[in-house]
Amino acid sequence: MTVPVITIDGPSASGKGTVAALVAQRLGFHYLDSGSLYRLLALHARNKAIDWADEAALAAEALHLPVVFNEAGVWLDGVESGALIRAEAIGNGASRVASLPAVRAALLQRQRDFAVGPGLVTDGRDMGSVVFPAAALKVFLTASAEERAERRYKQLIGKGESANLPQIKQDIIERDERDAARSVAPLRHEPDALLLDTTRLSIDQAVDAVMGWFDERQAAGL
Ligand code: DC
Repeated sequence: MTVPVITIDGPSASGKGTVAALVAQRLGFHYLDSGSLYRLLALHARNKAIDWADEAALAAEALHLPVVFNEAGVWLDGVESGALIRAEAIGNGASRVASLPAVRAALLQRQRDFAVGPGLVTDGRDMGSVVFPAAALKVFLTASAEERAERRYKQLIGKGESANLPQIKQDIIERDERDAARSVAPLRHEPDALLLDTTRLSIDQAVDAVMGWFDERQAAGL
């Protein structure tokens, strides 16, 4: 029996991680935040003094990256690293290591290994196009740049950090352009992914939309 997989791809700050995690929770499925693997590799490389441009060394490390995901957090080499990988510098490192073809190839099987029963919900940039091309349901989740900037702004203010809305919007637009322009696994809305524009949707409405599509697919025996 094949394991059902739901892929949710989309641009940064679109809320796809939040939606994917909630859908996984409702279905009792496993959840993979694929971006965290690129972030963990960037952190691991920094710990080992490996340059973020050293493709061969990074790919070798990616094959045996010592990570564990469990209820207690995200562990790298036995150290809980959930907060560390969210740092801005590590995000930049992740975007650099993610642009290297050998790194992406090395992480491919690792990502596929998460597809175990009863099912998997995963989010990223190329989960439907490259990693799980036979997924039961593929979603491309996005929102306008203004809306995404606004959400990130509120999130930062909520955490007591300072934030500049025009600057955040500019960063989001630049990151979109970089993610869409790279030669390997660029971010784009593939024709077989259903478009979910969350600009005017609440989190619950977005989760309901994905659940509705998945129910339809299941009812149709897909
Ligand atoms: O979603 P995120 O911000 O945690 O992703 C971190 C980086 O990894 C981002 O620059 C895009 C990249 N990434 C990717 O190339 N492919 C994925 N499937 C997931 C993330």
